[in-house]
Amino acid sequence: MPVPNNVIAHLLGAPPEDFWRWANWSDEVVQGTYPTKNRNERGEGLAGAHPEFVAYVDGLIADRRREPTDDFITRLINTEVNGRKLTEIEARTQLVFLFVSGNETTRHLIGNLLWRVSRDPELFATLQNDRSLIPLAVEECLRLDPPVKFLMRNCMIDSNVAEVEIPAGEKVAFGIGSGNRDANKFEDGNSFRLDRSDPRAHLSFGGGPHVCPGATLARLEARVALDVFLDRVKEVSLVNSEFEGVEVFWAHGPARLLANMVAN
Ligand code: HEM
Repeated sequence: MPVPNNVIAHLLGAPPEDFWRWANWSDEVVQGTYPTKNRNERGEGLAGAHPEFVAYVDGLIADRRREPTDDFITRLINTEVNGRKLTEIEARTQLVFLFVSGNETTRHLIGNLLWRVSRDPELFATLQNDRSLIPLAVEECLRLDPPVKFLMRNCMIDSNVAEVEIPAGEKVAFGIGSGNRDANKFEDGNSFRLDRSDPRAHLSFGGGPHVCPGATLARLEARVALDVFLDRVKEVSLVNSEFEGVEVFWAHGPARLLANMVAN
């Protein structure tokens, strides 16, 4: 948790010492029930459901309005998009979304990666001996253990996908984990391999106009986290080879990993 949290705090210009507060709020946002109309059990909209988080973000915005700084939030509130600046609610929503998106998903990527490496002594040794393979391990982990399990779309026109009729107006959920193991795309798709010719061909960051803008940052964080882990740990074994996942229906990552480790 501290890695993605500190990085996004640094980028957005929030004090790093506050990170446990918005790490918890961020969890609340993704774990809250979020059925239709953006409502959850605490109230309407972001401000009703998560007043503490909204007050905090509004405070960061108010600070910049009083005293503009050369940072992301100042630019976000002063930049014109299609001839106008963002409204208060738009700026707040973008910031909350960035706190959440830069946090939860990358946490799972790092957790999944540590799980992969800790349960497989051969993989651990291979990466210890050749750190240039770390980026490939990150991609393969993204492919096999996607932190975001589903994407949702509203179907706009009558469509046919793989011989399945999808009428206009339907809601569609795509299984990223399933697509990432597509036998037509990936040979031996269920195996973790560091020799794939197109290691980034997975869908874990989505695709098209809404492809994840944080992908490069997430990859960098995962590489650094794994590199530092390999520096500091000489031996590792998991107490249980499988993990209990987080309780978020669209997310895939360990709630906790218990391991025995020998420090370097
Ligand atoms: C391993 C880490 C991450 C994963 C697996 C991930 C996954 C995704 C996916 C699948 C989408 C597409 C959603 C859709 O099409 O419906 C997406 C969008 C997005 N991600 Fe990420 N993400 C990660 C990290 C980040 C980070 C670090 C940031 C910010 C710093 C970020 C910001 C965003 C934003 C703003 C969008 C919305 C883009 C749009 O709708 O145009 N993500 N992400």
